[in-house]
Amino acid sequence: MSAPYMLSASILSADFTNLGEQIQEAEKAGVDWIHVDVMDGHFVPNLTMGPFIVKACRRVTQLPLDVHLMIESPEDLLEAFAQAGSSILTVHVETCPNLHRTLQTIHELRCKAGVVLNPATPVDLVVPVLHMVDLVLVMSVNPGYSGQSFLPEVLPKLTFLRREFEKINPTAYLEIDGGINSSTLPMELNAGANVFVAAHAIFDYPGGINAGVQQLRSHFPG
Ligand code: DX5
Ligand code: ZN
Repeated sequence: MSAPYMLSASILSADFTNLGEQIQEAEKAGVDWIHVDVMDGHFVPNLTMGPFIVKACRRVTQLPLDVHLMIESPEDLLEAFAQAGSSILTVHVETCPNLHRTLQTIHELRCKAGVVLNPATPVDLVVPVLHMVDLVLVMSVNPGYSGQSFLPEVLPKLTFLRREFEKINPTAYLEIDGGINSSTLPMELNAGANVFVAAHAIFDYPGGINAGVQQLRSHFPG
């Protein structure tokens, strides 16, 4: 595998009265990316953040902003999210009838392009675009909230995608999101994931953000 292991801190569980400090604390603790969960109240039941929050994150950190778009018609907002300072824009396959075009648009906006699969979505749906993505994100909870339990039945998708990436796109990232903690991370790592999103296990960790990050990172090889 040529891509390194990454920890992406989801601010969904951060204390929004101190968002800047929380991001800087996570950065200091050693997270690699900041994950921003954008929800529209239609594609997923919850309603969260727009480009304005991405712009605020960009002001407090130079880390890559990993923007997960859980919204209908994401193509309408790609430019706004790119201009706000996103580094990676990830769209759900379930929301993109013209997936090649959407991914091309993300590249034209000079962002890395990712595609996401919900837990019940078959992995075959992303096979036609594996050669052109920078990242595939496998959801291991039904999206909408942080703090849910990991669904182990998605692990075979990671194994399949790792094998495909080794053949056709070895530098692409394979990301997993939902219910990641110190107990589940080794399973996802063994199945081939190399980017791990965590909200609850970082921002709600009983010993604090730094201890939560160290606990997760302790499983990374080398
Ligand atoms: C869920 C979001 C996740 C969420 C993860 O809809 O996409 O990024 O914040 O939260 P935890 O790590 O608490 O499961
Ligand atoms: Zn997410």
